[in-house]
Amino acid sequence: MAVKLENKYLYSFISSEEYDEILPQIKIAHKMLHLKTGLGNDSLGWVDLPNTYDREDIKKINKAAQKIRHDSNIFIVIGIGGSYLGAKAAIEFLKSHNYNFLKKNTPKIFFIGNNISSGAISELLEMCKEKEVSINVISKSGSTIETSIAFKIFREFLENKYGKEKAKERIFVTTGKGSGILRKMADEKGYISFDIPQDIGGRYSVLTPVGLLPIAVCGANAEEILNGASAAGGDFQKNDIENNICNKYAAIRNILYKKGKQIEILVGYEPRLYGITEWFKQLFAESEGKNSKGIFPSASIFSTDLHSIGQFIQDGNKIIFETVLQIENNSLDIVIKKSKNDEDKLNFLEGKTISHINKKAFEGTVLAHTDGGVPNIILNLKNISEYTLGYMIYFFEKACAISGYTLGINPFNQPGVEAYKKNMFALLGKDGFENEKEELEKRLKNSER
Ligand code: PA5
Repeated sequence: MAVKLENKYLYSFISSEEYDEILPQIKIAHKMLHLKTGLGNDSLGWVDLPNTYDREDIKKINKAAQKIRHDSNIFIVIGIGGSYLGAKAAIEFLKSHNYNFLKKNTPKIFFIGNNISSGAISELLEMCKEKEVSINVISKSGSTIETSIAFKIFREFLENKYGKEKAKERIFVTTGKGSGILRKMADEKGYISFDIPQDIGGRYSVLTPVGLLPIAVCGANAEEILNGASAAGGDFQKNDIENNICNKYAAIRNILYKKGKQIEILVGYEPRLYGITEWFKQLFAESEGKNSKGIFPSASIFSTDLHSIGQFIQDGNKIIFETVLQIENNSLDIVIKKSKNDEDKLNFLEGKTISHINKKAFEGTVLAHTDGGVPNIILNLKNISEYTLGYMIYFFEKACAISGYTLGINPFNQPGVEAYKKNMFALLGKDGFENEKEELEKRLKNSER
């Protein structure tokens, strides 16, 4: 198994009776997912995707990625939420969080359209000036405002730089099958386009062209990611806790939640895991945070954050548990050398590798945090590879769905995200929001007083 779950640091927090108690609920959740009888059952295309994926699509993705690599030294991914976090996470995990600074023969990859910052957009436009640029706009709905604005600006940039016809060859569109503004535009203008299946929601879409095209551009093997996910699908079939780590993780989370642990921190000891922790945050927050329920997902890189939020975790309000991602085989390593007269007082580390020291930091922290009343779940990742990445992605997706059903919510919608959009559109004067505009402006004025 490319991902293993260790629960040995949970013994003082969860009893075997508590596992027995939650087992029936977990079994029902697992069944609901497989029989497609639960809420949001029209969004379960991701469950069988790694096995049903059309391998011809992979060929199309690889061909597009090759063209992008050949034509560009900058590749821009335009999207927000589930339409960019998975790709970013994968590229950082497989290549590096410093990917753009590495010596390589693949383009630099930038992500935009994930905020409404004129500073961020202007900066990227400036960086693109003397460069060869291709873009991939990703939006299932085709109408997300952040994405649409950035796409407009970079489409116009390409058209000015290359002319309308040549720009077309540098615009790649990934959007929902069927209707939508972006689909219409792609069809009318003749951009190369990819479909996002209707039955796969944004945060479950990294194993579709949403994630796979940008991942392929960085030179990673998309097919091997699907192989890892497919193996995970096979390994997580059993409907019990002992032989299925998705069920086990979902069970642990729900037991801890009932005991007042309202915050989960996903921890990595390697900066290359930062993107994964950001993707995880979105997956679990949008899936579980509803009906006034849910565990608040947070993320940290240690030992970095041990020098900031570490104090709170160890000593503060006991509402936290941690899930720690550990990479078993780290090929890059550095050995500490002896210094003359022990001038830096580091000779006690002579001959030890940085990975060894990091491992001891992890062990010391797990013991300290569990002593401080913070339960720790450990997820061991076999290595840094496409296969392990696919396996891990599938693990989190399935665990999230089972955990959400156990919590009693629909893990596949995100009604709460609409509230800010509605207000923003009304305040911007979009057609159809006239009444709301007046009322919101009044409220803004009143709160000024
Ligand atoms: O998980 C989700 O569904 C969301 O985070 C979406 O991915 C995000 O809102 C972007 O939507 P779209 O792809 O339609 O632009």
